[in-house]
Amino acid sequence: MNLFDVYPLNNIEIVKASGSAVWDADGQEYLDLYGGHAVISIGHTHPHYVKRLTDQLNKVGFYSNSVLIPLQAQLAEKLGQVSGKTDFQLFLCNSGAEANENALKLASFYNGRKKVIAFKGAFHGRTSLAVAATDNPKIVAPVNETDNIVFLPHNDEAALENAFAAYGNEITAVIIEGIQGVGGIREASVSFLQKIRSLCDQYNAVYIADSVQCGYGRTGQFYSHDYAGVDADVYTMAKGMGNGFPVAGISIAPKFKPWHGMLGTTFGGNHLACAAALAVLEIIEQDNLMKNAGQIGAYLINELKQIEGINEVRGRGLMIGIDLPEDKSGVKKNLLFKYKIFTGEAKPNVIRLLPALNLTKDQADQFLNDFKTALKG
Ligand SMILES: Cc1ncc(COP(=O)(O)O)c(C=O)c1O
Repeated sequence: MNLFDVYPLNNIEIVKASGSAVWDADGQEYLDLYGGHAVISIGHTHPHYVKRLTDQLNKVGFYSNSVLIPLQAQLAEKLGQVSGKTDFQLFLCNSGAEANENALKLASFYNGRKKVIAFKGAFHGRTSLAVAATDNPKIVAPVNETDNIVFLPHNDEAALENAFAAYGNEITAVIIEGIQGVGGIREASVSFLQKIRSLCDQYNAVYIADSVQCGYGRTGQFYSHDYAGVDADVYTMAKGMGNGFPVAGISIAPKFKPWHGMLGTTFGGNHLACAAALAVLEIIEQDNLMKNAGQIGAYLINELKQIEGINEVRGRGLMIGIDLPEDKSGVKKNLLFKYKIFTGEAKPNVIRLLPALNLTKDQADQFLNDFKTALKG
C-alpha cells in the first residue's frame, strides 16, 4: 500500500528534537522556527511535558466521555486562569477544523440562524463548514459548497456594516482569525474586531475568534484577539494547545447553555490529551512564555524592519511574516538547506516564523544573521 500523496515533502527525516532544535537522520542539527506549523509551543520534548505524558500513559491513556475524567475540569480551570476567561466553558475536541466546525454549529444552535460571515484570505480548516468558510475554492469540494457563507473584505468596516444592515437577522456568526496565518500574516485591526463585537451584540450574532494559529500565547497575549480589548463569544484553539499531541478546544462564553448530546466526540478530552494540554499551560505560566513571545517577537520584528530588500514585515509576537520580493523566492529553501533553519511560508512569497514561545534571543540573533546573508545571496 502507498501513502495517499497529498503533501509536498522536504527530503528530511527528523529523528530527534529538543527545545527549538531538531536533528535529521544524519545527525545534522536545525534551528526550528516553524514549530511543525505553529504546533510546538513549549519547545520539543520539554521534560515536564514528557514526564506528564509518560506518567499519565502509565496510569490510563484513554477512556471515553462516558465516565468522569477530572483532568478535563483541571484543564478547564487552568485554561480559564491562563487565558483570563475564567467564566467561559470548555469543550474539547481534536483538531482546529473540528474546533471551528463545533463553534459554527454552536452559534447556529444558539440563534437558530444559518448565514456565516467570513473574510477574504481566511483559513479555518478542511471539514465541511470550516472549509466552506475558508477562502480557497481549490480545497472546497462540491459537497462542501454552501450559500450560507458570505465572504467580505478583511478589515473593511463599511462592508461589514452594510452586510449587517442588509441581512443582520439571518447572520448566525462572524468568524475571524486574530492574525491570518495561511493568508500571509495579516492582522485584524483593533477597530475591526471592536466593530464585529458591537454588530454581533446589536444583531445577536456570535463572534467566533479563530485562535487556532494565532492563539495560545503566541503573540504575547493568550488570544491575539485580546489586543482589541473586547471578548469574543467563542475562541477556537488547537495547534499550540498540546505541543504536538492532537488536542483542540473551544472556549465558550457563559451565555451559551449546553444540553446533553449537543456536541460530542470520541477522542476529545481523553486522559493523554488533557495531560499534554495541562503540561503546556503549566510551562507557559511557570516560564512566563507569553511575555517571552511578546519580547523576542518584538525584537525580531524590529530588527527585521531595519533590513533592506524586504517588502514588508508583518505580525505580532512570535507570529511573523516576512514578505519578500519575487526575485527572493529562493530564500526560504536556502534557509533550510544551506543555513539549516526551518521556517514556514505563505503564498506568494512570505516567510512565516512560528517558533516555540521560549525561543531565546541568541536563537533569534542566529536567525537574523543567517537571514541577512541568505537575502544577499
Ligand atoms: C487559523 C486556522 N484555523 C484552523 C486551522 C485548521 O486546523 P487543523 O489543521 O488542526 O484542522 C488552521 C490550520 O492551519 C489554521 O491556521
